[in-house]
Amino acid sequence: MTAEAPRKILITSALPYANGPIHLGHMVEYIQTDIWARFQRQRGHDATWVWASDAHGTPIMLRAEKEGTTPQALIDAYYAAHKADFTDFRLSFDNFHTTHSDENKQCAEGVYLKLKDAGHIAVRTIKQLYDPEKEMFLSDRYVKGTCPNCGTEDQYGDNCESCAATYDATELKNPVSQVSGATPVVRDSDQHFFQLGNFTEMLQEWTTSGKLQPEISNKLNEWFDSGLQDWDISRNAPYWGFEIPGSPGKYFYVWLDAPIGYMASHLNYCNRTGADFDSVWAVGSDTEMYHFIGKDIAYFHTLFWPATLHGAGYRKPTGVFCHGFLTVDGAKMSKSRGTSFEARTYLDHLDPEYLRYYFAAKLSTGVDDIDLNLEDFTARCNSDLVGKLVNIASRCASFITKRFDGQLADALPDQALFDTLAAEGEAIAADYENRNFASAMRRIMALADQANGYIADAEPWVLIKDESKLTEVQAVCTQGLNLFRQLVTYIKPVTPDIAAKAEAFLNIEPLAWEDAATPLLSHGINKFKPMLTRVEPATIEKMREAAAPPPEAPVLTGPLADDPIKDTIDYAAFDAVDLRVALITEAKAVEGADKLVQLTLDLGGQTRNVFAGIKSAYTPEDLQGKLTVMVANLAPRKMRFGISEGMVLAAGPGGSDLYILEPNSGATPGMRVK
Ligand code: MSP
Ligand code: ZN
Repeated sequence: MTAEAPRKILITSALPYANGPIHLGHMVEYIQTDIWARFQRQRGHDATWVWASDAHGTPIMLRAEKEGTTPQALIDAYYAAHKADFTDFRLSFDNFHTTHSDENKQCAEGVYLKLKDAGHIAVRTIKQLYDPEKEMFLSDRYVKGTCPNCGTEDQYGDNCESCAATYDATELKNPVSQVSGATPVVRDSDQHFFQLGNFTEMLQEWTTSGKLQPEISNKLNEWFDSGLQDWDISRNAPYWGFEIPGSPGKYFYVWLDAPIGYMASHLNYCNRTGADFDSVWAVGSDTEMYHFIGKDIAYFHTLFWPATLHGAGYRKPTGVFCHGFLTVDGAKMSKSRGTSFEARTYLDHLDPEYLRYYFAAKLSTGVDDIDLNLEDFTARCNSDLVGKLVNIASRCASFITKRFDGQLADALPDQALFDTLAAEGEAIAADYENRNFASAMRRIMALADQANGYIADAEPWVLIKDESKLTEVQAVCTQGLNLFRQLVTYIKPVTPDIAAKAEAFLNIEPLAWEDAATPLLSHGINKFKPMLTRVEPATIEKMREAAAPPPEAPVLTGPLADDPIKDTIDYAAFDAVDLRVALITEAKAVEGADKLVQLTLDLGGQTRNVFAGIKSAYTPEDLQGKLTVMVANLAPRKMRFGISEGMVLAAGPGGSDLYILEPNSGATPGMRVK
């Protein structure tokens, strides 16, 4: 039995942005959270894991626009794809919601109004860069220009990569909007500020009271030293998010409503299941609350978030758990090097248990980066999971099923060894609790070595040849399978699928932590089925190929060599071109222009005057009565001979070989060209 009384625990992971695929970097955090949540539940605690899709903000708005879709359609598509990835990685979350939800609107407005009533919100007029073409205010990442300090070009609106100076975007020289290419202008704008400075004392106390890792609280000291700045929580329309109550045209900044998304997802979960919401979020709550996050977003979770909660009258987190970043082969993941593996690419090739184990073997309490090296990954999974763990069962199973009708013996021949594994349970549990999964895995694999050593010494495959030793074979294999059962109990939070297969094979209820303390005897087991196969280097190669970047553009020959295809346009730009079939009702030569003919085009209800450079291929008489395709919505252009109201499309090498549509082509005037 676990000595502690059941704890109530609310767990969150950082919300993935709903505008890009999940990659293995994200999975470090989500697997870490999952292992911890599963561990707590296996220990008998009441652990609930809620999170959501981070669905607001300018990048999502602009991305949707670029793709010719709506933000809603974009976030819906990513929500579904992310959820499928998470489910297929066997994540045991209780709720995956979205920040673009009624619950989040309700929670965000509620928090904001409470902060406002308590006097923590100030409205101030500030100067901001405005894109006059796109008609929107520009945040720092959407403007680039020359550093006002050192003169380096092409720097973002908040700091210089060359001299590390920080500045206001309005100070950039020669600023250029990254959205439209226009030159931004400075405009006044009213913004809502959360006065973080009001919480300095509370935060200093909270961040140094053991709730954070030492690396993080040390880092925070730097921020305290320079004074906590007010935080701009509002953005101007157009913005994809929630409008601020009582402030038309102003929206909550995405980082205000994102952490509130934890609360909203929990609210949605409570509404769905009948669990109690208020008691969890009230000051003095007896539910522990932990946030799993990457070190890049520590500032938001260790200063803004606790201050927001405190200011609005809610409880604060019990702990914030930061992890480091995933590198691949020792370097930052990179799409162009083919080392940015999407979660789905992994799932298409490999069983999630391998990656779950590999990450577990590398994760510890600190914020160090962790490295994925696929050769090491292959070796590790094959030697530990297959060679050491699963192997124990496969070595013992067949003797029991074939010779003893699936029956385990009624006593253990080596109780001391069983006790050794049982005694290690609390140390392994402490490692899990402290998120020192690497240490837990080392302990488990060391015990697996002992178990394998026992079987190697006992040699049941030799004993079985001697009819007088049959009882001994049954005893040895019973011992082996009991050690296997203990190891599976301990590794179950990491490899839930192996555990489920082991439970089916051993014909037992789901393994609780304390089951490792009592042996399984005089019990009938099922036929052994393979639980995990080796990682094949060929599979790894296939996954690498699938993640490889598209090949470089080929060397061009033929017409494209002299006249390369222009830069890619997005669908919206293409869709903006209105191509129509037109009937040439009249065609005239143009005095003083060798190449031009003047055409009167009938669009089936409208006529247009167009000058076309196709005289080398067609005489005016030839053209009369023919059909052509035209760009019907091109702005009229003043030419030397008059105004041209559109553009006629013809194809061919030139000279006399230029072709327009033939009258018997089946096209009719005004018809849209697809
Ligand atoms: N939407 C914000 C979080 C809001 S939480 C209220 C965000 N999203 S994210 O998609 O960029 O990242 C989600 C989580 O994945 C973050 O905790 C981030 O640190 C983590 N990781 C993203 N890339 C990572 C690696 N390469 N390695 C490890 N974790 C990484 O930030
Ligand atoms: Zn500079």
